[in-house]
Amino acid sequence: FFAKAWDFVMSVPTIGHLPPIDVAEIAFAGRSNVGKSSLINALTNRIGLARTSNTPGRTQELNFFTSGSGLSIVDMPGYGYAEAPKKLVDAWNRMIRDYLRGRVSLRRVYVLIDSRHGIKANDKLTLDLLDETAVSYQIVLTKVDKLKTGELAKVKAATESAIARRPAAYPTVIATSSETGEGMDLLRAEIAQLAS
Ligand code: GTP
Ligand code: MG
Repeated sequence: FFAKAWDFVMSVPTIGHLPPIDVAEIAFAGRSNVGKSSLINALTNRIGLARTSNTPGRTQELNFFTSGSGLSIVDMPGYGYAEAPKKLVDAWNRMIRDYLRGRVSLRRVYVLIDSRHGIKANDKLTLDLLDETAVSYQIVLTKVDKLKTGELAKVKAATESAIARRPAAYPTVIATSSETGEGMDLLRAEIAQLAS
């Protein structure tokens, strides 16, 4: 599934510009700079497919990618980017909400959490929204290459217990690093199962 060539399809600045519902979708959500775009590049083995940056707030639209094989990937703008103008933040938040609420082709959202920081208040708001709207989601820990030996098991256990009572959450979390490739095969296998 991920051996196919992935391509950029379109960038959606507002909810009115969403592509028609065609194939199933999965989306990558999370705080600014958590590593959403990097993870998409690592999964698809295409450097530069999704634009990454050291500057939080790089991805400002919903970006759609396809390999023509029955599942689109959506890179979402990050939330919790403090320096962004409030008007912009409000507009992004509205778009994210509308997208998550209304997209029937959305099979699962991968919510990325920086393994060094864990689940923060604004992550909880996203999880609340997904639980309310009954959109299935799974937590992906990112940047595990930055953890000291032995820390990962603790972070993983703490994160799994934090989501244990959340109705729409997949009970296990996946630990990944876009730098080392850790967890990539596991995540690819899970995503491939969602393709129709
Ligand atoms: P926004 O588009 O602003 O919401 O950010 P994003 O979540 O798409 O993050 P992006 O993929 O642009 O990565 C942000 C920064 O984190 C970049 O400098 C990446 O190189 C770095 N980064 C991403 N993944 C990893 C990882 O697994 N390990 C390490 N060490 N750095 C990473
Ligand atoms: Mg991005």
